[in-house]
Amino acid sequence: MVSRIAIIILFHVFLSLNSHPAKAQAWIKAGYWYYDNGLPVSQINSTLYTHLICAFANLNSSSYRLSIPSSDDFSAFTNTVKQKNPSITTLLSIGGWDAKYSTLSAMAGNPTYRKSFIDDSIKTARDYGFQGLDFSWLSVNTIDMENMGTLFKEWRAAIALETRNSNLSALILTTAVQNSTDKKYGSFPIDSMGRNLDWIHVLAYDYSMPKDDNLTAASAALYAPDDSDVSTDSVIAAWINAGLPASKLVLGLPFFGYAWKLANPNENSIGAPATGPAVTKEGDMSYKQINNYSKTQGAVGPIYDSSYVVDYVIVGSDWISYDGADVVRNKVSYAMKKALLGYVVWEISQDDNWELSQAAGGVDSGRGVDSAGGVDSGGGVDHKRPKSRILIIILTTTAAVIIVLGLAFYFIRIRILKSKSKETKLKVNNVAVAGDFNNNNPDMIIYSLAEIGKATDQFIFENKLGEGGFGPVYKVIN
Ligand SMILES: *[C@@H]1O[C@H](CO)[C@@H](O)[C@H](O)[C@H]1NC(C)=O
Ligand SMILES: *[C@@H]1O[C@H](CO)[C@@H](O)[C@H](O)[C@H]1NC(C)=O
Ligand SMILES: *[C@@H]1O[C@H](CO)[C@@H](O)[C@H](O)[C@H]1NC(C)=O
Ligand SMILES: *[C@@H]1O[C@H](CO)[C@@H](O)[C@H](O)[C@H]1NC(C)=O
Ligand SMILES: *[C@@H]1O[C@H](CO)[C@@H](O)[C@H](O)[C@H]1NC(C)=O
Ligand SMILES: *[C@@H]1O[C@H](CO)[C@@H](O)[C@H](O)[C@H]1NC(C)=O
Repeated sequence: MVSRIAIIILFHVFLSLNSHPAKAQAWIKAGYWYYDNGLPVSQINSTLYTHLICAFANLNSSSYRLSIPSSDDFSAFTNTVKQKNPSITTLLSIGGWDAKYSTLSAMAGNPTYRKSFIDDSIKTARDYGFQGLDFSWLSVNTIDMENMGTLFKEWRAAIALETRNSNLSALILTTAVQNSTDKKYGSFPIDSMGRNLDWIHVLAYDYSMPKDDNLTAASAALYAPDDSDVSTDSVIAAWINAGLPASKLVLGLPFFGYAWKLANPNENSIGAPATGPAVTKEGDMSYKQINNYSKTQGAVGPIYDSSYVVDYVIVGSDWISYDGADVVRNKVSYAMKKALLGYVVWEISQDDNWELSQAAGGVDSGRGVDSAGGVDSGGGVDHKRPKSRILIIILTTTAAVIIVLGLAFYFIRIRILKSKSKETKLKVNNVAVAGDFNNNNPDMIIYSLAEIGKATDQFIFENKLGEGGFGPVYKVIN
């Protein structure tokens, strides 16, 4: 027999776990950086994040190519933030409030424009050194959802092609979705989003704003004691009900709050009558602005409300609600408990001395949350993930060992029955066959992993015959 095909059972799981640790997406700590908010890129403490998202590139309404704000920040962004944290991943966000929905609609509805947009977005990401693209898609009303589904599909295909043709790792593709939980969710291209996007940033805030609502409110409440109100919990539940897996959702954390002018300073709880925005035109204030205002004006508070999970301060007739460090920790614990993929901050320059960034980043398995927080601890996902992985490793490896031993005995039995001098080679992974078995069957040849590697030309793809329940099967070259 010149050449024979030997069946080699490789411990697919075992090997892949040893050589390339299972690639579960790690907990995401993402933050948007908005170029016009006054924080120089060089001052970003990138060690507090895993992903930084540079916002925003716009869409040119005649060429359907990206237009980047005229600033050196975008081209220097990745290199600059990598100086403090070399493992940070950067994304370029497209859209935002300046993007015209009519332009997005026109682009998405036309195959030629879509291609122009997609190709240009990939080229721009590479030219500027970004590792991903984020589509900050803020309208549910004016964009044709079916075309958006097509856009994501074509975008993913173009990224896959570009990855094959370049020697670079694939660009990440994400989108941002807004907060509302109404029936419109059903019309989102959920299937395409789940399939083609790496993950989705859920901008879980702005449920109630002073310009629209003359009652004080927790505008990013984690829970709504009155179920009819929108809350982050209901927004997340709505996306999951609509069909997106929790593992694709990244929870938005606002680093800002809103100030209401109280109608009566003595009525100052959540739901108190107000007469519109306070302090700023629309009442919006960054976390650092709120801290400064509270300190300089001698505010009452912060008062922590555990049923909504929100902080508020009162300065005379100004009533300001926001997410302080305790709220941030609770929301991150919530995201872990719901097995979401991580969190995304809007917007990092609004932080005060990196306090909130540190609070968010500091939540881990060991920590749980103070019981006043309204989130029962019970271990975050961070803690559970590695545990279940170890269990899977043990179970699959044990199963593989049992199967191989079983097969080995089976083949040996057949051989003994035929009892020929003819050499039958049973190729098994040396790792799996235990010593006793080896000694009791002196006829059996045990090959080392190195020998099998040599025989299969290091498991090159051309020698792979197929894949069975036990792992890949290779042809041996004599
Ligand atoms: C950046 O964050 C890290 C981690 O929390 C901290 O140790 C460091 O002091 C921070 N650097 C600055 C400049 O804030
Ligand atoms: C959009 O693209 C067109 C054609 O390339 C160009 O002439 C125009 O100046 C661009 N507009 C903006 C706002 O960048
Ligand atoms: C990709 O890498 C391979 C070897 O690692 C090299 O032969 C090839 O030229 C590279 N292709 C490009 C487009 O850089
Ligand atoms: C959040 O929802 C409210 C109410 O539905 C809406 O007015 C607001 O524009 C939304 N904000 C964002 C960022 O989507
Ligand atoms: C809130 O109250 C003020 C003063 O009464 C009024 O001018 C304003 O229109 C009200 N805003 C809303 C959104 O109802
Ligand atoms: C802090 O607040 C005071 C008024 O309360 C204001 O005059 C000052 O400019 C603020 N400082 C900063 C750094 O925002």
